[in-house]
Amino acid sequence: MAATTYTVGNFKGGVGKTKSATQLAYDNAKFKNRKTCLVDIDPQANATKIMAKTGNVREIKSTITDALQSNDILSCVVNIDGNLDLVACDTRFRAFSKYVNSFDDEKEKIQVLAKLLAPLKEIYDDIFIDVPPTISEYTDNAMAASDYTIIAFQTTDESFDGVKKYVGYQQYMVKTFGIKLQIIGIVACMIDPDDVLDEDILKEAKALYGDNVFSNIVRFQKRLKRYSREGIYIKKYKNGNYDQWDYQAHNVFIQILNEMEARRKFLEARVRM
Ligand SMILES: Nc1ncnc2c1ncn2[C@@H]1O[C@H](COP(=O)(O)OP(=O)(O)O)[C@@H](O)[C@H]1O
Ligand SMILES: [Mg+2]
Repeated sequence: MAATTYTVGNFKGGVGKTKSATQLAYDNAKFKNRKTCLVDIDPQANATKIMAKTGNVREIKSTITDALQSNDILSCVVNIDGNLDLVACDTRFRAFSKYVNSFDDEKEKIQVLAKLLAPLKEIYDDIFIDVPPTISEYTDNAMAASDYTIIAFQTTDESFDGVKKYVGYQQYMVKTFGIKLQIIGIVACMIDPDDVLDEDILKEAKALYGDNVFSNIVRFQKRLKRYSREGIYIKKYKNGNYDQWDYQAHNVFIQILNEMEARRKFLEARVRM
């Protein structure tokens, strides 16, 4: 088995990257029944906090910072729930830049993470990487370690600029280093259905990126915000029905996972032709 690896990116913070990475990982494990690992490489560790709450994990003994020192990623995997595991991050991981820059060779510099994550590829179906919003060693390495990019964006001009920069930068990385990385889709996050500006920017994104923009869009939902504080869950009543707000929050990401699966099949078939 060789896991498919996805990075959720945008060179802008606060646009829904971590929200998308955590929900996609959770729903991929729970509803698609795929063995999934979420790898947090953002020293702010937002995804780590959400996942720790999700799995009621009180203490995380080792994180990716330890894995970098021991070169043993498997010993820092934390089980969150069923099929869902986490490789946690912490503020000490800001040392990653320094570590990467201890190599002279440019190609070696961008492959530190890919090498570190290689053993995970053997045991998971899918890996999702949550990254900081910077053009940095972190995103370079996440790009080199991934098969696909999911670009998260909010309908603000700055966030849209972040998409353009990300796409351009990814093209540069593919060309310069020959990495095999493709955009699987662009996901619109935190959309306010009543906001005209939101609709305008969404139209602009579709005009520029066409079918690359997922047709399922993530609306602003109080329930999704709540999951950041309380961890992710989906309540099921005795009669077998899901709580409607939980269902709505999860369903959009399940639909996006369906879109991803269809696109992956299409892109893989194109490579074989
Ligand atoms: N669809 C949504 N509905 C409600 N709140 C959201 C939604 N998406 C993200 N948020 C909230 O917006 C904030 C920023 O999102 P986050 O995913 O952390 O952004 P990023 O990782 O790009 O910095 C967080 O507090 C998160 O809970
Ligand atoms: Mg984030």
